[in-house]
Amino acid sequence: MNDRRPRLVLGIETSCDETAAAIVEDGRTVRSSVVSSQIDLHARFGGVVPEIAGRAHLQVLPAVIADAVGEAGIDDVDIDAVAVTVGPGLIGSLLVGVSAAKALALVWDVPFVGVNHLEAHLYASLLAEPDLEFPMLVLLVSGGHTMLVVMQGHGRLEVLGSTLDDAAGEAFDKVSRYLGLGYPGGPAIDRLAREGDPTAIAFPRAVAERPADFSFSGLKTAVINHVRRQPEADTADVVASFQEAVVDVLVDKTLAAADGHDVASVCLGGGVAANSRLRERFVAACEADGRAWSIPDLDLCTDNAAMVAAAGHWQYERQGPSALDAGADPSLPLT
Ligand code: KG4
Ligand code: ZN
Repeated sequence: MNDRRPRLVLGIETSCDETAAAIVEDGRTVRSSVVSSQIDLHARFGGVVPEIAGRAHLQVLPAVIADAVGEAGIDDVDIDAVAVTVGPGLIGSLLVGVSAAKALALVWDVPFVGVNHLEAHLYASLLAEPDLEFPMLVLLVSGGHTMLVVMQGHGRLEVLGSTLDDAAGEAFDKVSRYLGLGYPGGPAIDRLAREGDPTAIAFPRAVAERPADFSFSGLKTAVINHVRRQPEADTADVVASFQEAVVDVLVDKTLAAADGHDVASVCLGGGVAANSRLRERFVAACEADGRAWSIPDLDLCTDNAAMVAAAGHWQYERQGPSALDAGADPSLPLT
């Protein structure tokens, strides 16, 4: 095998509440992707409990890795590199994945590659459409981050803007929690919003000073104030109107950023990219503007290890292995 080009990369993801492992070939083809969700463990607390998350990763990660290897139809000896999320995320959770990845890389005598979780989310669109052209504009919307990123090429990233307060997913989760709809809030609101009227309540659309920046905490407060003032308001209408306000801002700012930059394609990434209304509106807006677009399948939007393996593949191409004494960084920035 060519030492500069790992063909089969094992990806490991444990940054938050999903324990995941995947095998990706040539940074393009997903051979297997296994995700074990901890939602049931955290649901009764209304959010992720870091201590529970770390312990649960430790319990299930070996089996998740074994499943990923088995489902890919390969043996351990076929793996050419091990890539793992090193941040950002919950430190106790990150350390479980990082320690496992280092141990496996040492035992198998293959390169260890430490990957940024946010950069990994950018790769979901490329896994969905491997021939997508650079520069790509990606709207990265997850539980902890909301940002517009231009990907000029592998490892060449420019952040155009990001949220000044809450991330979009955080707003979904907080509104859901306030309304008693459970955790994670995004899928619960997405479901209920289908029964509501998105024009029922005119919630504010925040305009940040810089056009590519976002702000969602005022919207979240507006929803809470509305429900306090009108407790009889139909919850489906409330969440449909809230979701519409989030989607309006996300789609408008993304298309405006695409207009202002020389990009060949526009993509979505991160857990909120699983939102059905965002997907529908994003595609309609791109089609209306005649823009090439890509949105990953739902299981590539939320946390998974296929995106980590893909990001690891291309990172290894550029800069080789990571140092085995490098640690995890809970607040690792994208650039
Ligand atoms: O990317 P992700 O799985 O984890 C992070 O890196 O944060 O994103 C999780 C976030 C949560 O806030 C969750 O509520 C949100 O993605 N989410 C959704 C949907 N599915 C997940 N938000 C809106 N609609 C959805 N269908
Ligand atoms: Zn994520």
